[in-house]
Amino acid sequence: MKMQPNIILVIISNSSKIKVKNKILINQSINGFKKKTITVDGDKSLSIRFILLSSLSTGKCIATNLLKSEDVISAINNIKKLGIQVRLKDKSCEVIGKGLNGYKFSNNLILNAGNSGTTARLICSVLINSTKWIKITGDKSLKKRDMQRIIEPLKLFGVKFKNNNKRLPISLMGTKFLKPIKFTEKLGSAQCKSAVMIAALKTKGKTKLKCLPSRNHTELMFKNVLKIPINISKKKNYETIEIDGLKKFKPFNYNIPGDISSASFFIVLTLLTKKSSLKIKNVNINPTRIGIINVLNMMGSKIKFFNKRYYKGEKISDIYVKANKNLKGINLNPKFNSTAIDEFLLIFLIASICKGVSTFKNLGELNKKESKRLDWGIKILRMMNIKVKKINNNGLKIWGQPNLKLKKNFVIKGYLKDHRIFMMSTIAALSLGGNWIIHNSDSFKTSFPRFLKILKLLGAKIK
Ligand code: S3P
Repeated sequence: MKMQPNIILVIISNSSKIKVKNKILINQSINGFKKKTITVDGDKSLSIRFILLSSLSTGKCIATNLLKSEDVISAINNIKKLGIQVRLKDKSCEVIGKGLNGYKFSNNLILNAGNSGTTARLICSVLINSTKWIKITGDKSLKKRDMQRIIEPLKLFGVKFKNNNKRLPISLMGTKFLKPIKFTEKLGSAQCKSAVMIAALKTKGKTKLKCLPSRNHTELMFKNVLKIPINISKKKNYETIEIDGLKKFKPFNYNIPGDISSASFFIVLTLLTKKSSLKIKNVNINPTRIGIINVLNMMGSKIKFFNKRYYKGEKISDIYVKANKNLKGINLNPKFNSTAIDEFLLIFLIASICKGVSTFKNLGELNKKESKRLDWGIKILRMMNIKVKKINNNGLKIWGQPNLKLKKNFVIKGYLKDHRIFMMSTIAALSLGGNWIIHNSDSFKTSFPRFLKILKLLGAKIK
């Protein structure tokens, strides 16, 4: 019987193989790795936006370095169900756009967004001018997540919803009589902002969206790729985005840069692993995404960017990091929260080995992710014997232990297969010691299919 890595197989009496446990075992820290160079998989936000927006163009669009993770495959499968041709090749992905009104599907079609919040929320917006009922559902984790944030503005455009209890599954039907809207987005959610922007693109007239800052990939794609005129102004904490809709746009190509959220796991691993240094090439360092680097550098990590350039409005760079456990705690200004929103588990991990106390506030959105990430952060740190206090129900105080060396047994399970919990636990296991069993070992495929492969290339021993 051939044993597959990461999968423990048993033989039952009729000798068929069944997967009973799907977990990894780590009981050895990674050895120092010096002067290694890696790349990480393509940016997830840009990959999903490419799939959805290219379907609305007037012809063949090609992406290179598209992320081929489960979330992006969900977006592709759903767009195909809407009658769009997608050809996923080894090195590229072709989407044949059918224009702003080109989807073809039958009444009561069911779409499944799997684990992908971005797919679920943005797909509702591309459907707002389709006049058939369509149902959108997702996996166990996605069904727990808030959909009201996009239902509310889409209703204002004229979309009808039924079976709406603010969560998936939801059914919606668009209209040919869309009205432009004025809307204020108060969560700092890029998915919500982008859903309104895409809806505005399909709607005649001027939509005015006021929003709290969040990643700006959709704005950059509208301006630099689709060449849709949008007007962005800033006042105090809010940005106002004005879009004059119903503008056709030509097919486009996009070479997707590496994902900073994926790179972050390797940045933290390098910081925590003695005698290590790493170069990560071709990463998207859009200023709305590099909170993790800014926060780690404020803690003393000395991470550097070089070979900086721009591509279609996105800032790209190579990243250089070397081992450095001589870090100090931080009282983080919440203005950094949105730029590091997917990286807080890693920031908490770093805070737990820092000198001094770290404080993080206004992180309620973390408990609305693929799992309750704020609560999971607390749980994992407490398992590591780190003193942690939840503050105001949406923040954390972490008392760092600079000489932390783990020896105990750790079992990570029941975390709704949240890819970032799996990857953060793997990094903790490889850098801080202890014997770890991490369940649901395919969780990382949601966003970063090469995660374990790259770790093994750096010398990680993972069973
Ligand atoms: C994303 C936005 C963020 C982020 C998610 C991807 C996007 O969510 O957490 O992983 O691609 O727009 P919010 O919209 O909740 O900020």
